[in-house]
Amino acid sequence: MSARTYFIRTYGCQMNEHDSERAAGVLETMGYRPAPDPESAGLVLLNTCAIRENADNKLYGQLSHLKPLKLADPSKTIVVGGCLAQKDQDKLAEKAPYVDVVYGTHNMGRLPELLAQADSASLPVVEILEHTQMFPSALPSMREVRHHAWVSISIGCDNTCAFCIVPSLRGPEKSRKLGDIVSETRELVADGVTEITLLGQNVNSYGRDLVRAGEVPAEFADGSRNRTLFAELLHMLGDVDGLDRIRFTSPHPKDFTSDVFAAMRDVPTVMEQLHLPLQAGSDRILKLMQRSYRSRRFLDLVAEARDTIPGLAISTDIIVGFPGETEADFQATLDVTEQARFDSAFTFKYSKRPGTTAVDLPDHVEQHVMDERFIRLAELTKRLSAESHARQVGTVQEVVVEGPSKTDDTRLSGRTRHNRLVHFPVVEGLASGATTNVAVTDAAAHYLLGEVTDAAVTPAVPTPGPATALA
Ligand code: 5AD
Ligand code: SF4
Repeated sequence: MSARTYFIRTYGCQMNEHDSERAAGVLETMGYRPAPDPESAGLVLLNTCAIRENADNKLYGQLSHLKPLKLADPSKTIVVGGCLAQKDQDKLAEKAPYVDVVYGTHNMGRLPELLAQADSASLPVVEILEHTQMFPSALPSMREVRHHAWVSISIGCDNTCAFCIVPSLRGPEKSRKLGDIVSETRELVADGVTEITLLGQNVNSYGRDLVRAGEVPAEFADGSRNRTLFAELLHMLGDVDGLDRIRFTSPHPKDFTSDVFAAMRDVPTVMEQLHLPLQAGSDRILKLMQRSYRSRRFLDLVAEARDTIPGLAISTDIIVGFPGETEADFQATLDVTEQARFDSAFTFKYSKRPGTTAVDLPDHVEQHVMDERFIRLAELTKRLSAESHARQVGTVQEVVVEGPSKTDDTRLSGRTRHNRLVHFPVVEGLASGATTNVAVTDAAAHYLLGEVTDAAVTPAVPTPGPATALA
């Protein structure tokens, strides 16, 4: 084991992947180098997630695996950061006293000081702050993939979705300045990045706090350009030379405005891909969830998006078994899912998060009912994904190579503009980050198969959406 080596395990969302790349950057500036596994690393950092209960279980499982390693070699450093650390600071120090450092969601930049303190402490060094000190993007980064970078445009969330613990862990929404986002993007491009994913808990409310604080130039803030700041940002990033692909996650249906669809259509480097979380199809459940749109509005948005952006692929998040959900409510979720024809979906069983308002709602759904609904929903979303993929067979897609396929080294894997995963036979000289055209020959629910071709790209086959004028 080499003392100045590190291993980071990341749980949860893209925000955490981004934070982990920053943590790696901070450690590398301190002279640490990557280790292949936790056993051989001098420092192990677990970047935790608290969104659902199984994330808690995974962390405590991982910690119990690390305990004998730490006891065998006390010089090994164990660091726990992120959302669960923010939520469970005391429980963590109590349950795993062999941990060296616990830090939360607001102070990753303090890692060097905390590690120095841990050197001379016998108990875990715990530092959890209530407010953000700086955007993680201001810290050095070690990117996992050279051509792709996460760029955070806002942190925190001002919404109060009844199931969600995020606002209490990541604080109120705070937007980064437009100019800072654009200059970071330019620096990334100068460093070889061709694709970025903009990150925020609620990207399309981006900038409202800046307008309130008068921190935005008048021509953007007074509405005379008829664009929200998020649409403005997409246009500004569209002008960055050398940047080929822009994605973003996640917008909130209630804040969606037509100017964002127009920007997605008009800025060629904004990909034809949209993640639009539905959460539930029943209006009664949406109300209980404190999600202020209703199914009608959601389906209208889907129709408008598909009408505006040719070939658009839409993904979503859906929760089953929210407190009070009846069979009829669940049926509404199935109906809306079928009508929206999502190209892909992340589906979750409701998980009780202490401190959220949903915990106190009556009529929690029994586990076996939740399990059974989950399977029915998964069958539907898998069928919709397979249908969406099947429509791509016979087209030629623009693909950016990610690298060798994880399961078959005679193949490369890449992503289409719509974020579909494609596997195709290795072609000499085609490295990670390269753009190529792939003729799609076959499809499954979770991937496409194809071959590199000289043929020109054909448009993705659009997913038939709900008709704009639904009765
Ligand atoms: N239980 C189940 N799923 C949840 N999500 C957030 N909180 C919970 C919870 N308590 C899901 C939502 C969100 C995604 C990131 O995680 O669908 O969009
Ligand atoms: Fe959670 Fe809702 Fe905020 Fe998303 S928008 S982070 S689900 S509170």
